Amino acid sequence: MPHDPGTVKLVGAGPGAADLLTLRAARAIEDAQALLYDALVCDEVVALAPAACVKIQTGKRAGRASMKQETINRLMLRLARRGLRVVRLKGGDPSVFGRVGEEQAFLNAHGVATEVVPGVTAASAAAAQFGFPLTHRGEARRLVFATATTRDGTLTDTGWAADREATLAFYMGRNQLPALAARLVAQGRSPDTPVMAVENAGRADARAMPGRLGDLGQALAAVGCEGPVVVVVGEAVAHAAAFSDLEVPATPVEARS
Ligand SMILES: C[S@@+](CC[C@H](N)C(=O)[O-])C[C@H]1O[C@@H](n2cnc3c(N)ncnc32)[C@H](O)[C@@H]1O
Repeated sequence: MPHDPGTVKLVGAGPGAADLLTLRAARAIEDAQALLYDALVCDEVVALAPAACVKIQTGKRAGRASMKQETINRLMLRLARRGLRVVRLKGGDPSVFGRVGEEQAFLNAHGVATEVVPGVTAASAAAAQFGFPLTHRGEARRLVFATATTRDGTLTDTGWAADREATLAFYMGRNQLPALAARLVAQGRSPDTPVMAVENAGRADARAMPGRLGDLGQALAAVGCEGPVVVVVGEAVAHAAAFSDLEVPATPVEARS
């Protein structure tokens, strides 16, 4: 769809490799006059924007300074009201923990039209890169995208977690993951459930830490991670090659290039 001046496209940048952008996303970036992008968006993707495009990093990595959401909203509004083609670029898929609903509601309420361009979410990139499915016939019939923590830092409700046929993909809240894993086990999920923690999914420097739910805290503490991490829990994970000769505690597996 053409990008009308004075409108905002909320675009998924995928997990961090430029060739995992959709064509629609790439075209939107190449056509942008103002680009507001999150910290998880890689330089290679930002570089697709024209030289004359106004580029603003909005931050948004845990523990690092980032613009307040209200500031980002106002900035998008101001740039759109100047008649610019604005692209709001977010890591992964904007509709998965990307606050796209809030930003869209704000802009629409102020009379600015929006369009969402989907992207490859971290769990999909992790599954593709390390060779396991997120659903699997007869084994994994449901898929839950979940965050480990709520806004105030407490663990999220996990009443659904004992469901053996569900694959769980956990985003954010890495420090809470050991407590979360303990809670999942207490709620009836087997401590032997396969788990794969993937750092920098979709990128050349991705690492996967295979393990079991009962050892998740230990495995994560042993490897340490600088980049973003998505943790996938469920029987489907055992299809990964990295899992077949797993010793616990696990050693990280590098991505094959
Ligand atoms: C605010 S959420 C955004 C999720 C994003 N919209 C998506 O669809 O992937 C940020 C969290 O997503 C996960 N994440 C994002 N990119 C990742 C990547 N390349 N590898 C692993 N996890 C990633 C991490 O759990 C990170 O803390």
